[in-house]
Amino acid sequence: MNTIVFKQKLSELVNLVVVETPLIAAKARAGQFVIVRMNETGERIPLTIADSSPEEGTITLVFQEVGKSTMQMGLLEVGDAFLNVVGPLGQPTEVKNYGKVVLIAGGVGVAPLYPIACALKKAGNDVLIIMGARNRGLLFWEERMRATSDRLIVCTDDGSYGRPGLIKEPLQEILATETDLAHAWAIGPAIMMKCVAETTLPYHLPTTVSLNSIMIDGTGMCGGCRVLLDHEVRFVCVDGPEFDAHRVNWDNLLERLSFYRADEKLAVEQWKQHTCKLDLALVQEVQ
Ligand code: FAD
Ligand code: FES
Ligand code: MG
Repeated sequence: MNTIVFKQKLSELVNLVVVETPLIAAKARAGQFVIVRMNETGERIPLTIADSSPEEGTITLVFQEVGKSTMQMGLLEVGDAFLNVVGPLGQPTEVKNYGKVVLIAGGVGVAPLYPIACALKKAGNDVLIIMGARNRGLLFWEERMRATSDRLIVCTDDGSYGRPGLIKEPLQEILATETDLAHAWAIGPAIMMKCVAETTLPYHLPTTVSLNSIMIDGTGMCGGCRVLLDHEVRFVCVDGPEFDAHRVNWDNLLERLSFYRADEKLAVEQWKQHTCKLDLALVQEVQ
C-alpha cells in the first residue's frame, strides 16, 4: 500500500512517481489532489493527481523539489512507500463542452493541467495550450500536451527553447485573435496565475485557477489554506482548489504563501548539513 511502483526524473528538479493506491485511483477525478506524508515526523504535502489508473490501482504524482520535504521525497525509489496518502481531496474540475478553451501551464503546473486538458478534450472542447518554464531544462510533457491539444505554444523565459519570453505575450495574442474563446484555466506559480487573471480580465473571459495555498489537514478543519474571494473566505482544500481567478485576492495569497519562508530556508540548510555529515560518516566508515 502506498508503494512507489515507478519513478522517473522529468527535468532537473521535477520527479514523477506512480504510487499504488487502489482506493484513491478508483475515485480520482481531474482537478483533485492528495496529501502525502513520508514518515511519522514528515510534513503533510499536498500534490495534485496528475494521472490515475483504476485498472492498475495507481495514481501518478509529479512534484518539483522546492524545499526540504520535496527534496527528501526526491530521494525515494521504487519499492519505497509513503506512510500515508490521503485523498482524493478537493472538488473536481467542472468538465463540459465549453467550446473553445485556452489552458495555461507554468513550470510544474503542466502536471496538474494535463488531466484537465484530457478531460476537456474528451468532452469535445477545442483545446489551446500555452506551457512555459524558466528554461529548457525545466520543461517536460511537451508531447503529452501536444497530443491532448488542438494547438500548443511552448515558451521559455530565457529563450532556451520554443518561443522566448513569458506566457503573457502569446496569451494576449490568442485573446486578441480567438474571439470565440469560452473559458481559460491556469495552473502554475501564484504570481503567474495572477498575471493570467489580469490579462484575461479586460476580455471578460471566465478564468479558473487551481490555488496552491499552504495546507495542513486538507479537510477544512485548520483554516490554514484560507483565501479571500473578493471579501469572502474560502478554504482551498474543501471549496477548491479551483476558483474564479478574477475574484481571488492575489496579494493576500502571495503574502500567506511567504509566511514561513525564513523557517523553510533554514530547514533546507539544516537538512543539507545533516545529510552531508551522514555522507561523510559513511565514507569514513568505508575507508
Ligand atoms: P518548503 O520549503 O516547505 O516550502 C516551499 C514553498 O512551498 C513555500 O514557500 C510555500 O509557498 C509552499 N508550501 C510549503 N508548505 C506547504 C504546504 N504544506 N502546502 C502547500 N504549500 C506549501 N507541487 C508540486 O510540485 N506538484 C503538485 O502537483 C502540487 N500540487 C499541489 C496541490 C495543492 C492543492 C497545493 C495546495 C499545493 C500543491 N503543490 C504541488 C505545492 C506543494 O505542496 C509544495 O511545493 C510543497 O508542499 C513544498 O514543500 P517543501 O517542504 O518541499 O518546501
Ligand atoms: Fe486546513 Fe484547508 S488545509 S482547512
Ligand atoms: Mg516544507
